[in-house]
Amino acid sequence: MNNNRFYIERQEARESNARSYPRKFPICVAKAKGVHLTDVEGKDYIDFLCGAGTLALGHNDNDVNKAMMDLLQSGAMLHGLDLITPIKDEFTTTLLESLPEDFARNSKVHFCAPAGTDALDAAIKLCKFATGRRAVISFSGAYHGMGQGPLAMMGNLHSKEYIPGLMGDVYFMPAPYSYRCPFGVGGEDGDRIAAQYFERMLKDPESGIVKPACVVIEPIQGEGGVIPMSANFLKQIRRVTKELEIPLVFDEVQCGIGRSGDFTAFEFSGIKPDVLCLSKAVGGSQPMAVIVYDKSLDKWGPGIHAGTFRGTQLAMAAGNCLMKKVRDRKFLDDVKRKGKIFMDHFTSLKKEVEVIGDVRGRGMMCGIEIVDPKSKPDIIGSKSNGGAIAAEIQRKCVENGLIMEKGGRDGAVLRCLTALSIPDTDLNKGIDILTEVIKSVDKSAR
Ligand SMILES: Cc1ncc(COP(=O)(O)O)c(C=O)c1O
Repeated sequence: MNNNRFYIERQEARESNARSYPRKFPICVAKAKGVHLTDVEGKDYIDFLCGAGTLALGHNDNDVNKAMMDLLQSGAMLHGLDLITPIKDEFTTTLLESLPEDFARNSKVHFCAPAGTDALDAAIKLCKFATGRRAVISFSGAYHGMGQGPLAMMGNLHSKEYIPGLMGDVYFMPAPYSYRCPFGVGGEDGDRIAAQYFERMLKDPESGIVKPACVVIEPIQGEGGVIPMSANFLKQIRRVTKELEIPLVFDEVQCGIGRSGDFTAFEFSGIKPDVLCLSKAVGGSQPMAVIVYDKSLDKWGPGIHAGTFRGTQLAMAAGNCLMKKVRDRKFLDDVKRKGKIFMDHFTSLKKEVEVIGDVRGRGMMCGIEIVDPKSKPDIIGSKSNGGAIAAEIQRKCVENGLIMEKGGRDGAVLRCLTALSIPDTDLNKGIDILTEVIKSVDKSAR
């Protein structure tokens, strides 16, 4: 087999300049099992990225693969637009059974084209169609995908600032972010003020914001830097949107399907959305996106929102199998336990080093915010983003056999999105590699 460099050079020559992950992880992957990757030179890596959280059961899970093999060998139709098949029917049953009962009871499912961005696009269209309104509310730090609708709702400016003509009428509200509180207070006060600001802006006839078709929010922001929304904040957003009859859309493309330690990331808050967007893990490793929404919004007519690849049967078989394993309470409690191991460890390391500003997350959606130790603290004591330091940590992790994702402002947040099924030994091994790298980079950064 050729070496990594051979494949990297060929990719550079033949693929788009927009390629991203191979720039951070310059390897050619030959094999993958669980949370282990092996490159073409035979080097092993622990995968804390796992398809940006898509691989909730890791690579090549035996049961998921068997479900796909069984379907392949059964003579079933593999592609069928939105035609009915037994596996599609079973997938829908499993999905609705796995969601909180009081949400699922009154919901309908729409299969979208297979990416997360397609789910968001469908959600926006559903709400615009049902309400006849044109505006959409999003939040700072949001990430909803790269289509021109979802991109317009993205907080990060990097990918959108040079694209003219994105979907119009998008208004941004400040999302609570305790470590870098937009109101300079943090904690519960930050949540309270953000909720108050949201309410005022939507109720003030002079705010400049027309009544929107929907409010879209990630219960745990992912790409924005692993920022969990508190139950209180979500409750306030729900109260206001309900009062004003504005559909509330939860984007759980990344934080859903067990990642938070519950099947959905919203259920801990005791409220429910009008629309739930799912992708990534819902297809059990294969491309799939769905929206689940309140029946009252089902106003669109036949074929109003279509797409060729809405019938990805292999993804239905894989997702059906994955959801049945993940929704088990014991499995979910174990997700919480493992997330706590990660966060407790780095919260304690934070006391020893100067480059860790904050450790946060929920379930196994964990983030470590890296700061520049030489910078001056702001009014709430937070130092400047350490984007360059985080990039060095990521690079050294790869050298030491750990694939570690980044995100957040200036890419300063190290993010753990590994398989929910990761064995403790692999989790601890990954934690050890990351700890050693952080300690060594900390010394040079001071
Ligand atoms: C919360 C959220 N929404 C939407 C998307 C877009 O998904 P996709 O990249 O599959 O279009 C992502 C992708 O990371 C995401 O994290």
